[in-house]
Amino acid sequence: MRKSRIIGISMFCMILCLNSTKAQKLIYLDVHQPIEKRVEQALSLMTLDEKVDMCHAQSKFSSKGVPRLGIPELWTDDGPHGIREEVFWDKWSGAGWTNDSCTAFPALTCLSASFNPQMAFEYGKTIGEEARYRNKTVLLGPGVNIYRTPLNGRNFEYMGEDPYLSSQMVVPYIQGVQQNSVAVCVKHFALNNQETDRMSVNVQVSDRALYEIYLPAFKAAVQEGKAWSIMGSYNQFRGEHCCHNDLLLNKILKGEWKFDGVVISDWGGVHNTDQAVNNGLDLEMGTSTNGLTTDGTAPYSEYYLANPFLKGLKSGKYSEDVLNDKVRRILRLIFRTTMSADRPFGKFVSPEHSETARKIAEDGIVLLKNDKQFFPIAVGRYQKIAVIGENATKSLVIGGGSSSLKVAYEISPLDGLIKKYGKDHIYYSKGYESGVTDYSEEKASKVNADSLINAAVETAKKADVVLFIGGLNKNYLQDSEGGDRKSLNLPFGQDKLIAALLHANKNISVILNSGNAVAMPWLDNVRGILQCWYLGSEAGNAIANILSGEVNPSGKLPFSFPKKLEDNAAISFGKTSYPGDSINEEYKEDILVGYRWFDTKKIQPLFPFGYGLSYTTFNYGKIATDKRSYTSEDTIKVSFSLKNTGKLDGAEAVQVYVSQPNASVIRPQKELKAFKKVFLKAGETRTVELKINAKDMSFYNEKAKSWTLEAGEFVIRAAASSKDLKSSVSIQIL
Ligand code: BGC
Repeated sequence: MRKSRIIGISMFCMILCLNSTKAQKLIYLDVHQPIEKRVEQALSLMTLDEKVDMCHAQSKFSSKGVPRLGIPELWTDDGPHGIREEVFWDKWSGAGWTNDSCTAFPALTCLSASFNPQMAFEYGKTIGEEARYRNKTVLLGPGVNIYRTPLNGRNFEYMGEDPYLSSQMVVPYIQGVQQNSVAVCVKHFALNNQETDRMSVNVQVSDRALYEIYLPAFKAAVQEGKAWSIMGSYNQFRGEHCCHNDLLLNKILKGEWKFDGVVISDWGGVHNTDQAVNNGLDLEMGTSTNGLTTDGTAPYSEYYLANPFLKGLKSGKYSEDVLNDKVRRILRLIFRTTMSADRPFGKFVSPEHSETARKIAEDGIVLLKNDKQFFPIAVGRYQKIAVIGENATKSLVIGGGSSSLKVAYEISPLDGLIKKYGKDHIYYSKGYESGVTDYSEEKASKVNADSLINAAVETAKKADVVLFIGGLNKNYLQDSEGGDRKSLNLPFGQDKLIAALLHANKNISVILNSGNAVAMPWLDNVRGILQCWYLGSEAGNAIANILSGEVNPSGKLPFSFPKKLEDNAAISFGKTSYPGDSINEEYKEDILVGYRWFDTKKIQPLFPFGYGLSYTTFNYGKIATDKRSYTSEDTIKVSFSLKNTGKLDGAEAVQVYVSQPNASVIRPQKELKAFKKVFLKAGETRTVELKINAKDMSFYNEKAKSWTLEAGEFVIRAAASSKDLKSSVSIQIL
């Protein structure tokens, strides 16, 4: 492959050389030359118009290359759970191709729940292969906005409430994707923590919460993951839209973090030419157009970074340096991807991809309750299994907004259970019904709800065991872009249905699909609960493997489940804090997000961050550190033994939390600083070793505008969840 590519490129070079008056050596086409040299030469050959042309969209998902110089277009696509179908040149609707049905991978909440960075790498590598096969330059994902409230419609696309967990999971995902010569586009930078008023809401948050909670995953993505692009978010921060926010883009991202990639706007997130030019945006996408490129009221040529930019450059209002910086970044991205040396071919919908999707799903499913070993349900244990609930059959890869997918196949939970237990043992009844999935409207079902309940109750009565499969479903306002949920409760009458089922049969469990916490008024009465996220193409197989015990669950919650909505930090402060007054919003809970809030305020969550059961049991030995005192430059080595004390093989996501009891500022009661997924055979014991950089125990000092690690005592705890603390050890920072 490489040989023919090089011959092709050399011929192109020769033709260009012959045509070129200077006949200079065209090193920008030579994939073996250093990228920066290639960038400089390509830039020097471009006209002003060609440069400006590169800074804005030319279709829904692409931007121009330089055809004259053989520099290709840049093609983006959603992201982050599968490669979105091809759409028309300038419409959101599918173009009707027959070769673009992808593998759907589990939603990122599931990946994060695996607490397994190796899975994140596999995820990235595999989805990157699909993106490469489809000739995409940029994958629009992953998303790492912090889970601030359980109402945010897009939480399912993100990695939970903890900045450390998100950071550890996003880095390998990026490395996996980019090894395919496909760029990630980490989104949405920053503070896009809700969908209500997302296009305009002006977020006010302290520097400390910004640096400690909302930025770390982006910083890790840039500095450790080496992300090649990042997407600005729709909302405003301190009075400027984030797609052209001087503080976020120029000062922090490109200044402090030395990001050398491309800042891409969210689609329609640009509002002002001066700011778009000067405040760090490089590529403008999705600004409203009438779909025509040459005429009409707002064609691509009228984007803020198109003619208005060109005009300003020609009049001297904008300097060419600022344009050159944008173009350098875009060229760099093209040389890292489409015009790179080792660009593989990619793969699409292969059996290996299905296997990866299934493994991630199995690794992230969380067992929340298991009364008297309700699970696993071994094949043959029951003759009649009632499966009730719409999510047993509804497609959950569709909906949710831009991450909606056209898939090659999707194994529903019902398909998976029939395959596992045999069709003669499965009795299905829908029980409730939602309306058709729609992006911007709630469409109620026209079927009579009571008839559905009655039929389900009859099915439940006759069964030995009942599996209720429900939750949210990516309909508008039920885990979807463009709107937040309105309540913590399950929609479509599911609580009423579960109550009715409980009267008919007490041997019942609840299997939930959602990317968010939900209220559970039936918690004490059902015997088992599984949190199954949105699992993608292999959903049914993964669920059946966990249910039957073929796979032992090992996922842990990447966010806290509150008992009631007002227990959530942001919501507890009222409208000003969430969702804002439609213009401004103040993050009043400051750094106390998620378990940091529950812990510090001593509020009992329904299920804590980091929680998840297994079919086996683990015993934690006493935690120890390699020394008693450390300097800020040291690495703290932590160890403890872990024993699988049950009868089944299994994996445990061990967690290490750090507290600073006598800090000079408020600090959360504890913060996650290390974790590891440890697999142990039944009866096996292993010493678990983890490392913490002392520096990572610092807080962001608002006065000094830097990170501070205070001398004194720190307590390090081994834990099975943020509430299940095992043993602790005190160390001193000198
Ligand atoms: C979303 C992005 C997405 C883009 C392109 C926007 O509405 O916020 O996450 O990548 O559309 O589909």
